[in-house]
Amino acid sequence: MTDTPTIQSLILAAGLGTRMRSQTIKVLHDILGQPMIGHVVDAALASGSRRVISILGHQRQQVRAWLDEQPYAEQLAYAFQDEQEGTAHAVWSARQYFEDGPDYTAILCGDVPNMDGQTLDAFFQAAIESKKVVSLVTARLDDPSRYGRIIRGESGHVEAIVEYADATDEQRAIDEINAGIYLVRTDFLADALRTIMERPADNAQGEYYLTDLIALGAREGGVFGWTVDDPRKIQGVNTRVDLAAATEFARRRINERWMLDGVTFIDPKATTVETTVELGQDIVLYPGVHLAGTTSIGSGTTVESGCVVRDSAVGEEVTVRSHCYLQQARVDRGTALGPFAHLRPGSDIGKNCKVGNFVEVKKTRLDDGAKASHLTYLGDAHVGEGANVGAGTITCNYDGQNKSRTQIGAGAFIGSNTALVAPVTVGECAYVGAGSVITDDLPPRSLGIARGRQRTIEGWADEE
Ligand code: UD1
Ligand code: MG
Repeated sequence: MTDTPTIQSLILAAGLGTRMRSQTIKVLHDILGQPMIGHVVDAALASGSRRVISILGHQRQQVRAWLDEQPYAEQLAYAFQDEQEGTAHAVWSARQYFEDGPDYTAILCGDVPNMDGQTLDAFFQAAIESKKVVSLVTARLDDPSRYGRIIRGESGHVEAIVEYADATDEQRAIDEINAGIYLVRTDFLADALRTIMERPADNAQGEYYLTDLIALGAREGGVFGWTVDDPRKIQGVNTRVDLAAATEFARRRINERWMLDGVTFIDPKATTVETTVELGQDIVLYPGVHLAGTTSIGSGTTVESGCVVRDSAVGEEVTVRSHCYLQQARVDRGTALGPFAHLRPGSDIGKNCKVGNFVEVKKTRLDDGAKASHLTYLGDAHVGEGANVGAGTITCNYDGQNKSRTQIGAGAFIGSNTALVAPVTVGECAYVGAGSVITDDLPPRSLGIARGRQRTIEGWADEE
């Protein structure tokens, strides 16, 4: 063995996860914006695995399609388990990676999403130092429920794991459980698996148990049991109740990190910040805010209740009032949005702008200081610096077949209840009278009015 031992990781992810009661395989269920298996791969890579092998079965195309799109795809490899005959059988289907493999093989479960890279690394270091052939993560639980139980001998050494289904009442009373996370000398793993696979799977579930590795290891060089500091890190997800608990823990961990970095959460339990989001300092997040995907928020920005911000870049000192929905939008410093603003993909809002209530924006640039304060649709448009778009303005960008652009010049003033029938240009500092349907371009500094003239009939009501 070399001085720094090399490690590869296997992720068990072939099972359907029947208890999820879902059309979607368990490991593709989402926790804070990425499927469970993504969290497990992240941890494996962060703890120094040179290669991560996912063992897939059910819905393998879907799982692979997601993994192959990730930036780390080159470090991934796959093994396939057609019939799910147990966790040892799953690992056995990856045996081609044991020949000339790294010194150690870590075995992780695709349904244990909260084991982070740092904790996993601490386990690997302790395991390697122990010089045992097998090491495993254990936890002590108030409610050990259906986890496998750790059997320790009189000297305190781990001797075996007994699955809940096979355990006696006395064994079920043990509160130390198997987390399903192992680090095994690769040469030992190859031999021990052959032993497990060659004998009948005579246990309560009729499956080849990976947990039998422990009794074999105990006989050959010993087993190292490493107890995790926080059992929530190793919580397995088998049902949607577990999924909610795992999400809750992940959310709390992310939010606490941001709080220590200077972000105020008025109610951290009610605010979701996905793993891929970037935040500045002195941001205030109200309850019910969901920041998703590649979103970034600049320092000094406030996001009020009920806002969803997805894959968007919001600058510094922005005020996002309640119930705004932003997707693939960009918002520059000092701008105020909402309440109830909808920024669709391609919205690009400059500095110190105002996009007020019930304003929808799509593929539109607002230059600095432009305002659309009320009840407006701006699609495929460019609004120049300081222009004022009055209440109820609509860019008529779609004729049933084609989308056309609207240009509003800097300093222009669009009166309320105007329809701008695109393609159309309103020149710089031009005015549009309220209630107009503008179909022709307006030169700079002109006034366009396009509406029926008012007729006033005196004494109309007198005859009644
Ligand atoms: C397993 C352990 C148990 C441990 C628990 C921790 C065994 C026999 N038991 O039980 O000791 O306390 O994890 O969470 O290992 N899988 C496959 N192919 C299979 C079977 C399972 O890929 O043939 C995958 C599943 O998709 C899942 C993982 O292995 O991601 C664990 O399987 P699961 O059925 O959830 O095992 P547990 O009953 O939780
Ligand atoms: Mg499980």
